[in-house]
Order: sequence, then structure tokens, then C-alpha cells
Amino acid sequence: MSALAPRQDFPLLAGDPRLVYLDSAATSQKPGVVLDAMREYYEHDNANPHRGAYALSARATERYHDARVRLAHFFGVSDAACLLFTRGTTESLNLVAYAWGRHAVRAGDEIVVTGAEHHANFVPWQQLAHERGAAFRIAPLNATGTVDLIQLRSMVSSRTRVIAFPHVSNVLGSMNDVPEIARIAHEVGAIAVCDGAQSAPHLPVRFDELGVDFYAASGHKMCGPMGIGVLIGRRALLEEMPPFMTGGDMIRSVGDDRTTWNDLPHKFEAGTPNVSGAVGMAAAADYLDSLGMQRVRDHERALVRYACERLAALDGLRIYGPDPSCERSGVVSFTLGEIHFFLRDAGAFESFRRQFDAARPAQLVGIAERIQHQRAAGRNDRRKMLLGPDHHLRDRDETRGRERLAQQCVDFFAVTRWCEVIRRFKEQRRDLRRRNERLNVDRLRRLDVGATEVLVG
Ligand SMILES: Cc1ncc(COP(=O)(O)O)c(C=O)c1O
Repeated sequence: MSALAPRQDFPLLAGDPRLVYLDSAATSQKPGVVLDAMREYYEHDNANPHRGAYALSARATERYHDARVRLAHFFGVSDAACLLFTRGTTESLNLVAYAWGRHAVRAGDEIVVTGAEHHANFVPWQQLAHERGAAFRIAPLNATGTVDLIQLRSMVSSRTRVIAFPHVSNVLGSMNDVPEIARIAHEVGAIAVCDGAQSAPHLPVRFDELGVDFYAASGHKMCGPMGIGVLIGRRALLEEMPPFMTGGDMIRSVGDDRTTWNDLPHKFEAGTPNVSGAVGMAAAADYLDSLGMQRVRDHERALVRYACERLAALDGLRIYGPDPSCERSGVVSFTLGEIHFFLRDAGAFESFRRQFDAARPAQLVGIAERIQHQRAAGRNDRRKMLLGPDHHLRDRDETRGRERLAQQCVDFFAVTRWCEVIRRFKEQRRDLRRRNERLNVDRLRRLDVGATEVLVG
């Protein structure tokens, strides 16, 4: 399988040929064109925008505006003023929970999230529910890790004000039926809030066709810079809800007793904006469009199939989430029985580290990876899977007695090499055991995973 984008497009990857980066779901590496665009902005057009009176500020304003228009096009938003710049998905979702939530949710109302939420789309709603005296409900997932639509439909009522859900799960890679969830919300007069952090980098997203009321995404997960993201909302809602933060730029007039708000999008963008971030995120959209988001999606499908095939061939390895033949995204979570002390539990992992006075084996062979603790508990004999947000795991009472699974979230890049690492690591351990020797740092360092193609998409 050939790479969709050359490694050379990414200075960090080009500069370190041994690095296999497996943490793109947390943040992607940045193509040179994004870094160039930000540098070019600072070298030629930097000033505080919306100050109007001099040419440089006018240019900065124009660059910021152009970035918004570019991203509105990327996300299929016909009304560019409804695309707000934020610091990222977390801030976008907080904006909705604070500004819309405190305006619209009352005691006795219901807030529905799902069992697949990232903290960013869970905690703000939980807090809102506490504050307003609203009921907080968690919609279960079905066996493939998507929201169970039958159960969701039976949970909502005319008291439901909001259904918040992820487009794509950051744990299982499962993909939700967004228009259908939006329909379920609208049928009972609720709004639909979609966390797009893991879909924006991987799928063509057309906000106008999704049917949701709000959609949030982060620039840094889609080849753009950190510290910038978007919240896209329906104009009627954005106009009726109060601002999130107050200060400069978001005001129309300020009197001693009263302040009025600026038009969209400025009403929700208080203070000096992150112009270089917006420019960088727009350059990332150009980059992704140059690959073609449909090609990114098709490539990812092929990689997930390949990854799951290769991983499934490893003894004792169990993959979680939808079957690769389903519509699913590129996060593959698994546990590996035999080396569970290594993958399964951070505590055990720490003792492993101390024992060998070493960094993680995976790091020693140049692999950046991330271990996520999640729980996946069989809820009933239909093997329903309910994934709790990470905070459940920190609550020892909640998790005691349940199967605790550490899940290795492997982005689809470089799966080949990861399989090789696991296979060789296991082989090496077996050999050492046979010879009654112990694994040590030097031996781990010598673990050579071979020259397999690294795919960057
Ligand atoms: C599904 C999902 N939602 C929200 C977030 C939070 O994104 P950010 O940290 O960019 O605000 C993440 C980050 O991993 C995510 O995967």
C-alpha cells in the first residue's frame, strides 16, 4: 500500500526517519506548508486586526477573515459568520454549554450525552446539569461502539434540551449516524451538539448537510496548529444566546450601565484573536483538500482493514470496536494478553520502567504511542459495550471489580511497524525466557523493527 502523503511533507517526520508517530488522534504532525503560512503571516501581515485605521491592521483583518471563509468552505458552511474561531474542540463545547446552556436549560430539563464521550463533551454538560438542576443521562452504545439509536430514542422526551455526541469515537473509531441523532433531538425539540474532533481530520464534513445545531473541531488534529479550532453553529441559536466571554472586539457599544453585542462572529470572539492560528488552520485545510478528503477517507478504510487483519493475526490480541468491514475510522484499540503488564495498566507499567530503568520499549524503538485507560464492561448478555469517559477510571470504587482494560489507541499510521514491534518484542521475550535471561535496556534498544513503509495520511 503506498502512502497518501509523502513523509517529506512533514518536517518533523522528515527530520527523524526512525520516528513512527502513532499519536495522530491526540495531535497530528504539521506539514511544512502550514508552518510556512504562519511564518509568512508574521513576516508580512502581523498586526492587531479590527483596529482598522492603518494598512497593516487591515491586512491582518483580511487574513483572519479569509481564513474563516476558507474554513467555512472546508466544513461545508454556507454562512461563514457562523463559523467561530476558538482555542479548539474543548473550548467550542464549553462555549455551547456555558452560553447556550445557561440560557436555555432549566431545572427539571434533561441533558443527554453518550457512553463514548471524550471529557470535553462530557464534563461541561455534567456541570451544567448540576448547576441548573437538570437530569444528566448517558445514552448507551451498541456492540459496535456506536450510539444505540433505539435506546436513545426511548430516552429522550419533551424535557430533553440537548443531545451531545461524538461524530467519531476517539477510543473505538466507531462512527455515529449524525443526521439520525440530529433528527431524534429535533423531534423532541432538543438541539444536537456534535463533537467533530475526530471526524474533521478524516472525513469530508458538510455542516449544512449534517443537520446538527453545533459542530466543534480542533485545528491541531487536522494538520493545523495548536490553540485554534472552530465552533460552527446555526445562526438563529448563535444570535439568541448570550456571549461566552466579554471584552474587546465582541462589543458594539459600551456604556456605564449597559453593553450591546457585536454581530456574528465577533460576538463570540472576545479579545485579540489568534490570527496566525487561523491562517495555519486554513493552510491545513488547503493541504487536506490537496490530498482530497474523500481520498483520505478511502485510504483510511484500506489501512484500517489492513491494520485489523495484521493485528488480529497476533496471538492473544483482542481488538475492540466495530468490525473493519463497518464504517469506522482509523483508531484501533486493543489489548494484548501476554504482555498485559506492558499495555494494560499504568501502575504495572511504572514498575516495569523502574525494573529496567528504561523508557518504554516502544519509545526505545522510536515509536511514540499513547496508552489510554478505558473501561469496557459487558453490560448484559447481549454484550453491550459501555465505554465510560476516562474519569470513571480514576474513580476506584466505580471501576473496582470490573474488567479494566488499557487500550492502546493506535492511529492508522504505521500500523505495519507497530505489529512488527509487538511480534518481535514477544519473540525476544520468549527467547530470553528460554535462555533464562532477563530483558534489559540494551536488548530492547536492539529490537529492530525492520524497514516497513510508514504511511502518512
Ligand atoms: C473526540 C474528542 N473530543 C474532544 C477532544 C478535545 O480536543 P482538544 O484537546 O483539541 O480541545 C478530543 C481530543 O483528543 C477528542 O478526541
